[in-house]
Amino acid sequence: MAENSAEAEPEANTAPGPAAGAAKRAAELRRDILYHADLYQSGKPDIPDADYDALLRKLLALEEAHPELQTPDSPTQKIAGWASDLFTKVTHAVPMMSLDNAFDEAELNEWHQRILRMLGAKAKQEALFEDVDTGGEGEDGEAESAAIELGGFVCEPKFDGLAISIRYEDGRYVRAATRGDGTTGEDVTANVATIKSVPRRLTSTAPAVLEVRGEIYLAISDFEEMNRKREEEGLARYANPRNTAAGSLRQKDPAATAARPLAWWCYTLGEHEGTPDFASHGEVLKYLAEMGLPVNPQWKFCADLAQVKEHLGAAERTRHDHDWEVDGVVVKLDSLAHQRILGVTSHHPRWAIAYKFAPEEKSTKLLDISVSVGGKGKATPFAELEPVFVGGSTVQKATLHNEDQVRLKDVRPGDVVVVRKAGDVIPEVLRPVLSERSEGLPEWKFPKTCPCPLATPLIRKEGDAAHYCTEPQCPAQKWRAIMQFTSRKAMNIEGLGEEWIRKLVDAELLENVADLYKLDYDSLIDMHGFGEKKRDSLQEQTELSKQRSLGQLLFALNIRHLGDAVADLIASHFEHLDEIMAASAEELAAIDGVGETIATSVCEFFQQEDTQQLVERLREAGVNFEEKRIKPDADIPQIFAGLTLVVTGSIEGLGSRDDVKEAVVARGGAFTTSVSGKTSFVVRGDSPGKSKIDRAEMLGTPIVEAEDFTKALSVPDSVDELYARLFADG
Ligand code: IVH
Repeated sequence: MAENSAEAEPEANTAPGPAAGAAKRAAELRRDILYHADLYQSGKPDIPDADYDALLRKLLALEEAHPELQTPDSPTQKIAGWASDLFTKVTHAVPMMSLDNAFDEAELNEWHQRILRMLGAKAKQEALFEDVDTGGEGEDGEAESAAIELGGFVCEPKFDGLAISIRYEDGRYVRAATRGDGTTGEDVTANVATIKSVPRRLTSTAPAVLEVRGEIYLAISDFEEMNRKREEEGLARYANPRNTAAGSLRQKDPAATAARPLAWWCYTLGEHEGTPDFASHGEVLKYLAEMGLPVNPQWKFCADLAQVKEHLGAAERTRHDHDWEVDGVVVKLDSLAHQRILGVTSHHPRWAIAYKFAPEEKSTKLLDISVSVGGKGKATPFAELEPVFVGGSTVQKATLHNEDQVRLKDVRPGDVVVVRKAGDVIPEVLRPVLSERSEGLPEWKFPKTCPCPLATPLIRKEGDAAHYCTEPQCPAQKWRAIMQFTSRKAMNIEGLGEEWIRKLVDAELLENVADLYKLDYDSLIDMHGFGEKKRDSLQEQTELSKQRSLGQLLFALNIRHLGDAVADLIASHFEHLDEIMAASAEELAAIDGVGETIATSVCEFFQQEDTQQLVERLREAGVNFEEKRIKPDADIPQIFAGLTLVVTGSIEGLGSRDDVKEAVVARGGAFTTSVSGKTSFVVRGDSPGKSKIDRAEMLGTPIVEAEDFTKALSVPDSVDELYARLFADG
């Protein structure tokens, strides 16, 4: 916030001014966008789509105003991310619901009982009405005891992809939309049109309107092929087929979607007009296939629950026999009349349930057990596996934690081992398949020396589960220290994976992290076969990394015992790295949340001469050492003093999320991300997060509309007036 805001135009109080320097702001935005796009690709987004869109829009606007800032590799050119607002919104006439889950047979039984009960109650009600109509006596309980004829079930694979709704009018492809929040999705017509298995025309008997719902996916073989190519180009692997499919679908340029081999299976109808009167779900599936649409042939009619269970077993056993991911079986009541009676809850139909398979386990060969040495010298054994596709991604490595764990599991190089991975969970080696162990296969022994060329002895102290390499010059430690520095939570320089770091350290081009800022990137191309793309992205990311926060820098420095959260905490108590360096262990330990071990470790770290030299070189390179804390602005009336606010969605005219935060904090308020009992009110912007609004409603937290919030930012005369502006509708 400008210090001279007293002299500024009166409007200066109604919205925060842009941060100093458009170039700096653009660099910050690019850094944040790349960071979040990356999290999204890896399946772990940590901000709502709307926030991401706001960042992207802000950058677009900035680049439009300053075309000189636009670079060919800016995220605005490269990714539409999951840019929900860059695609037009589509309201689904028939909501796209999700499914309730059953994780075992007991839960499936419960669902079965529930639908029987509900249909039974309905039948009883009708029988009573009939009695009244006919004047009959009607035995109480007669209808209830009458067996309900469920009419069977349809079991379908549960495809692990992205829900899509594709609309045909008079047989012509007119629109495709994503699920979005179920009511409103994004228009992805142009992109979906590039998918080969999406017909542009249906058969000549097609009805007036046919909205077909299904799942878009990327075949496992195609996913692996894409990753193979990426590895060849020196790019990071995609995390899993599902997120890669999502990323492919949300390309700004349909040609980019077309270049990726997406496919789909359809399984139900949305809005439809002029279709036959279907009596069962099976009929719908047959009809869709007749229309020339891809219905997966693996669906099965089961007359009763026993047959369903039999099918579930078979489906689970053969789940890997397909080139697409299946994570369960969807069981649907076949009769549409029954479906209508049962209806839907606020988010799922009562007539269907997704039976989820158990976390996936597969066996593969344990090629070797290697040891990796961390930046702080800790030596951790890990399994090198014959690549195996399990739980949605290819697994090649899995940690074995420490010597005792290896002994406990009794896994030996050469064994066939069972590997488990569920969803995003870290892969795990469970056990050896003893029946396949060749006779005399030796036990694995923890290596005596560090795997680096110095081969320093590895030491396990008494009472400690871990081994350590104690040589500070150990190259393995150097690699790790550099990897820590470049990692996502630290300086976030992607594109320089372990292999390249090793190569550069071995070639003596990288001795420590400060060397990253003086690397001759062009010469890497000549000397090391870097691709140009990789060079450019590495260069940009290295540049962006200079703007990381003080906490991130502190974490990046790889100080023993210091994790990212405490690094942030320490940073928030200082203004500059120099102050932290000058702080005593007592001062650091006085911070609530910083223990003595960490305080001593940080203090000792900064007392070392080589640390001080390193810090000087980082300073020369222009790395940010300041804590860019947003502070209450003394020149602005503190209208939010004592209030804690949560803002969800974007607020027109207020810019990015950081800008909104700045506006709140400058006015004395606390800006938090989750709704709790302490939240004074929630501001509802464009595309708000549903869970935040739901939680606010549950807790009875007041909700302020964005427009009223913006009005309140200009200085009100009294608290009453502030509240009147905040809660315009009373
Ligand atoms: S039917 C009204 N059938 O799973 C019910 N959904 O976890 C609509 N899914 O949102 C869904 N395979 O995206 C149905 N054979 C299948 C499915 C399927 C995958 C997805 C769908 C749904 C999600 C719920």
